[in-house]
Amino acid sequence: MSDKKLIFSGIQPTGTFTLGNYIGAIRNWGPLQDEYNCIYSIVDMHAITVRQDPIKLRQHTLEAYALLMACGVDPEKSIMFIQSHVKTHAELNWILACSTQFGELSRMTQFKDKSQRHPDDVNAGLFTYPVLMAADILVYNADLVPVGVDQKQHLELARNVAQRFNQKYGEFFTIPDAYIPKVGAKVMSLQDPAKKMSKSDENPNACILILDDKDTIVRKFKRAVTDSETEVCYREGKDGINNLMTIYSAVTNKSYEEIEKEFSGKGYGDFKLAVGEAVADHLKPVRDEFAKLIADKAYLKECYTKGAEKALRISQKTVTKAYRKVGFVDAR
Ligand code: AMP
Ligand code: TRP
Repeated sequence: MSDKKLIFSGIQPTGTFTLGNYIGAIRNWGPLQDEYNCIYSIVDMHAITVRQDPIKLRQHTLEAYALLMACGVDPEKSIMFIQSHVKTHAELNWILACSTQFGELSRMTQFKDKSQRHPDDVNAGLFTYPVLMAADILVYNADLVPVGVDQKQHLELARNVAQRFNQKYGEFFTIPDAYIPKVGAKVMSLQDPAKKMSKSDENPNACILILDDKDTIVRKFKRAVTDSETEVCYREGKDGINNLMTIYSAVTNKSYEEIEKEFSGKGYGDFKLAVGEAVADHLKPVRDEFAKLIADKAYLKECYTKGAEKALRISQKTVTKAYRKVGFVDAR
């Protein structure tokens, strides 16, 4: 690999992705490939910290892989793999677990949230999940990790664990930094613009899925909640319109000023239709490419097998050295 900085990011294969995932995360991953060495993983091992249907998990993992490719991640430019295919993550996980404190894991807000939401399945994996995430990152000595704000606490933990290991055993791991993309807008629910757009929303009209067809997308935007005024402009208190403007701007690259001009004198109805059509048109190539990829299982397999081989080659070096550092006898 060249001397560009190294990026690692992972995404869970939990069903199809939303417009929020797309604008806030995935669509930034393609452009990063030109500036950085990138390693991207579909983190299926993280997904089983909550109960999964095995058949669906397998299907969602392949779909997530194909969708990342359809969104512009190129398996020739980046290393792209499925987490469970690369055993070094689990191996380093154990080493790092022994440098992580019970107390610090107990402070993770995502653990507190999820254990409240699934009180019947507060499993040890859910508790130690941030250690596996630290292993994902540190096993490649990644410099930068693109994450949403919800993951910042986990990244902070990864940094602390790396520093603690380095203090115990001597400088070894690169301390990773969070990478906040320049254009990383937060997309809100179309039905309650005070809430983040999320696939777990009960109201299907609240959330656009990347793979929704044009009619569905336009219909959902037509029903989007706005306010009782009539003017399309970005202003405090106009959460619904602000959200639509953010989305429109993200898919057309138009500034808020340009959008205000474009719709001055027109009503919300025209604006909502325009946003719906712009989003549907923007996502069309993604949908088409996804349909092609998901139908070609042999090609997908070739890509993820090669990706896993490359990932293993790099990460094996780290694990071998870490084993030596902690005092394990060489296996060969
Ligand atoms: P999640 O599906 O919540 O695990 O999130 C996966 C990635 O998508 C993370 O980087 C999140 O920060 C991002 N993301 C999820 N929902 C949104 C949203 N509504 N707006 C912007 N980014 C989002
Ligand atoms: N925990 C992340 C999420 O739920 C996914 C993830 C797993 C990740 N390992 C990672 C993200 C390593 C960045 C780096 O969104």
